[in-house]
Amino acid sequence: MSSFQTGDDRSFQSVAEKVPLKGANRLKIDYLGNLDIPFKEDEGMDVVQGLSRSPKTLPPKYFYDDRGSQLFEQICDLPEYYLTRTETAILQQYAGAIAQHTGACELVELGSGSSTKTRLLLEAYQAQDHPLCYRPIDVSGGILESSAQRLLQAYDQLKIHALVGTYEQALQTLSDAYLPQRMICFLGSSLGNLTPDECDRFFDQVRLALRSGGYFLLGVDLHKATAQLEAAYNDSQGVTAAFNLNLLHHLNWRFNGNFDVAQFEHFAFYNTELQQIEMHLRSLKSQTISLKTLNLTIEMAAGETIRSEISRKFDLATLRSQLQAKGLQTLQVWQDTNQWFGLLLCQCREL
Ligand code: AVJ
Repeated sequence: MSSFQTGDDRSFQSVAEKVPLKGANRLKIDYLGNLDIPFKEDEGMDVVQGLSRSPKTLPPKYFYDDRGSQLFEQICDLPEYYLTRTETAILQQYAGAIAQHTGACELVELGSGSSTKTRLLLEAYQAQDHPLCYRPIDVSGGILESSAQRLLQAYDQLKIHALVGTYEQALQTLSDAYLPQRMICFLGSSLGNLTPDECDRFFDQVRLALRSGGYFLLGVDLHKATAQLEAAYNDSQGVTAAFNLNLLHHLNWRFNGNFDVAQFEHFAFYNTELQQIEMHLRSLKSQTISLKTLNLTIEMAAGETIRSEISRKFDLATLRSQLQAKGLQTLQVWQDTNQWFGLLLCQCREL
């Protein structure tokens, strides 16, 4: 947890507000909602709904408290987790082409996390003498704040306007672009967390946040052999398991819950029919759990699971036609030589 949030009641206000930080004129952070601070009224209805359903589910955004964001960074470095490494290699090769294509534009990034891959884009725009304006969005205020500070040190012309909140909150809040054009970046195959219906709604929101001519840069993990997929979500060091289980710690803290984390285990497999990795938390015994702040009590049978994440795997042709149907035209697709991962540059057609 960053010092910014501790003992600072401004963080608890639910309305967006502007809080200047060090390097004041180059950094602005607006808090729309924040998973690093405890319960706020209205929150957690998605938890209640998911846990009341059968089978039980939880929204993956609750992975990303500060600890969860750190664990995710560790996942990105795992030998089995090819996604980050592969997408980084594609960006290393083609960031220049992307910048060339779009010209000057502000970079909006959904789920920016550590912003490591974004540096490749910033460098490409910088190399082409474009002004640098970055608008990172993340539910974890801690990681947003620390990565913003590091970016400001690395790029002395960079301006950052960060939003702490969910994709939906942020896409609705984005004001006019600071630069004549905007590119919304959604990297790392986070799109895979959305069900096909959610994906449809999400593309609508992206399109609304782009004026016609605006760009959408989308990184997606592609279909591949089940063994490789399952290894990526069942790493030998158990980091993915810790990441999954941390969700329960987070809910305990956030909603005054009593999950006994030792009584759950990580379970991940590829659902070939739905073409998605599913991560579950499996109850090791029959148990009753309550989340006091949410007035929620649930029963779990021995062996019953809570599905904590889907991570869909994509087919480029299908995805392109879905985007097209939403007014987002694919201009170019880049892939690694193994064709494990795809990076699509799309443009918003006339509204
Ligand atoms: C950040 C959603 C893309 O689905 O691969 C990594 C999260 N979960 N290992 C993914 C994740 C387990 C990741 N995304």
